[in-house]
Amino acid sequence: MKKLEQLYEGKAKKVFATDDPNLVIVSYKDDATALNGKKRGTIAGKGVINNQMSNHLMKMLEKNGIPTHFVEEISGTDTVVKKVEIVPLEVIVRNVAAGSLSKRLGLPEGTPMRKPVIEYCYKCDALDDPMVNEYHIAAMGWADDLTMQTIAKYALKINKLLLAYFKKLNVDLIDFKIEFGTTADGTVVLADEISPDTCRFWDSTTHEKLDKDRFRRDMGGVEEAYEEMAHRLQLD
Ligand code: TMP
Repeated sequence: MKKLEQLYEGKAKKVFATDDPNLVIVSYKDDATALNGKKRGTIAGKGVINNQMSNHLMKMLEKNGIPTHFVEEISGTDTVVKKVEIVPLEVIVRNVAAGSLSKRLGLPEGTPMRKPVIEYCYKCDALDDPMVNEYHIAAMGWADDLTMQTIAKYALKINKLLLAYFKKLNVDLIDFKIEFGTTADGTVVLADEISPDTCRFWDSTTHEKLDKDRFRRDMGGVEEAYEEMAHRLQLD
C-alpha cells in the first residue's frame, strides 16, 4: 500500500492518505517532545521501536477481544491503520502514583493505588490538555454516554492485559495513556499508540525507569531504555 498525501503531522507521528478511503498510513518519527511541546529533542531509533511495540501490543489486545485500529505493519516505521475519528480525550489509567497524580495529590511516586484509576484529559494543546470528567465530556458532546461506557470498559481490560503481559517481562506498568477512535461504521477502537512514549515502565526488581520519563526529566540513558524495552518484548 502506497503513501499518498500527508493528512496530518503530530509531535511523534505523521499520517498519510492511501488509495483506500477507510485506511491511512501512520509513520512514526524519532522526534520527542515533552511539557506540551516546550521541550524538544530526538530519540534515535524511537520511531521503529514505538511502531513495532505498539503493533505487537495491539495484536495481543485484539486476540484478547479489544478492537484496535491496527491493520498491517509495512516497514520499520510505517503501519496501515483504520481511519478513525479520534475521540478528543487522553484516557489515562494508573496503577501506581507517579507524574502529575503524585504532584496533584502529594503522593510519593511509587505509591500503589488500591484499584486502577481512570482519568480523562481533553485533547487541546492550547489549553495544555486539561483534566475533565464524564460530566464535562457529556456536556461538551465530546463523546456520548455509551461510547464512554465502552471506553472505560476497554481501558480497564487493556490495563489488566498489559499488566499481566509486562509482569512476565519483569516490568511494572505504572500508568499509561491511550486514545480511542470511531471507524466509519461507528465501532469504537483503540487507536494512537502504546509505547514507552505513552506508558511508564519500571523494572520490577530495580525500579529503574524504562520509558520517556528519562527524556522528560533529563535522566540520560533514553535510547538505552527504549532498546531495553524492545529487547524484553523480543522485537530486536
Ligand atoms: P502524567 O502523570 O504526566 O499525567 O502522565 C500519565 C501517563 O500518560 C504517563 O504514562 C505518560 C502518559 N502521557 C502521554 O502519553 N501523553 C501526555 O500528553 C501526557 C500528559 C501523559
